[in-house]
Amino acid sequence: MLTPVLSDNWDQINAWQLSSYQRTGGYDALRTALAMQPADVVTAVKDSGLRGRGGAGFPTGMKWSFIPQDNPKPKYLVVNADESEPGTCKDIPLMMASPHTLVEGVIISSYAIRASVAFIYVRGEVLHVIRRLQQAVQEAKDAGFIGTNILGTGYDLDVVVHAGAGAYICGEETALLDSLEGRRGQPRLRPPFPAVAGLYGCPTVINNVESIASVPAIIKNGADWFSSMGTEKSKGMTLYSLSGHVTRPGQYEAPMGITLRQLIDLAGGVREGHELKFWTPGGSSTPLLTAEHLDVPLDYEGVGSVGSMLGTKALQIFDETTCVVRAVLRWTEFYKHESCGKCTPCREGTWWLVQILERLEHGKGTEADLATLLDLCENITGRSFCALADGATAPISSSIQHFKDEYLAHFEHGGCPFDPMASTVFA
Ligand code: NAI
Repeated sequence: MLTPVLSDNWDQINAWQLSSYQRTGGYDALRTALAMQPADVVTAVKDSGLRGRGGAGFPTGMKWSFIPQDNPKPKYLVVNADESEPGTCKDIPLMMASPHTLVEGVIISSYAIRASVAFIYVRGEVLHVIRRLQQAVQEAKDAGFIGTNILGTGYDLDVVVHAGAGAYICGEETALLDSLEGRRGQPRLRPPFPAVAGLYGCPTVINNVESIASVPAIIKNGADWFSSMGTEKSKGMTLYSLSGHVTRPGQYEAPMGITLRQLIDLAGGVREGHELKFWTPGGSSTPLLTAEHLDVPLDYEGVGSVGSMLGTKALQIFDETTCVVRAVLRWTEFYKHESCGKCTPCREGTWWLVQILERLEHGKGTEADLATLLDLCENITGRSFCALADGATAPISSSIQHFKDEYLAHFEHGGCPFDPMASTVFA
């Protein structure tokens, strides 16, 4: 196991304050970056192999290089801090523990793409995070790291912390831009991608919190250092969130490619007396996996090779006391509620998925319902405006693939064979 990078200062006293952050070398990377040409900062991030930590894994440096520098329009950096994927809890702890890691990353990244305004779009519900970020931005302004003529280099930057209003869809990058512009957040058709026409129609880089927070360490320690960690195509250290039936749920920083078996060991094992039944690699929007997949490398390629996706690295662990149909129903209700309604497959499809799953969970379904569910999933996937509906179908089709018997047991039993109140076990 390597030394943590993003979380290395989390246990310092008042780690969120500028003075504490600077005691551990905070803002040294900014000085280094500002002494470089912006294009060289982009090259360093490209060479590091950093891939977007919001879930899609798109190469960060490549995204930055799409910003057309001959375009006279302003350029913007937008940080997607709207973390909402069920089970995902890495960006919010990061911003609470060490907001300056993100703020320093924002300044360096804005300099690299030559933006003079950056926005951090945070979920509206997490008022404590918004306050912490506002305080960190103010401290950075007072110290001369944000504002005009930063550290005497002639570079100017303003950073705005913007509170969203609590819609899952606003984590989708183009819906986020609509929301930031003051409109109802709904996804835009891509292309054009935000790198070409983003905020106010201007070239915009949108990156996840963890991606931007990784930048200072890359600049400080070099691209080779970062790319020496992880796997061949998925580089660096990263934050995994473990939740559910483990002894010590929480955030674990580890190299890309670690396995769930190793992470569960770090988390003290599955809760005593129980065994792993199923898990999500990247929140509920990624196909479920089972105990068979404990040794799959948790990188984009490894998880992809077993028919799932790494996504947000939100490992939700469920033991044998969990009814998979009930869990899937619960997630599907979430997607139905959060569907923005713009496109028919998602708006209507998630509604129908809930109707059928409810019937099944309550033992009133038939085997034909299972076929209808799979047919619906097939007709929704890839046919909606954004990734929300694909995410909604992922746990359904994968749960039928791995646990068809449990769906059937609901008909045979005339209801859910699990008693959630008494936690009886399905045999
Ligand atoms: P995507 O693969 O379409 O795009 C990823 C990024 O690359 C975007 O910023 C996009 O603008 C950029 N990009 C892709 N192709 C490009 C091109 N040709 N030119 C310029 N830029 C390009 O993925 P998407 O739809 O943005 O995100 C889906 C992911 O979001 C899922 O994998 C899921 O894991 C994750 N997700 C994360 C959540 C969270 O709370 N962090 C919530 C829900 C989903």
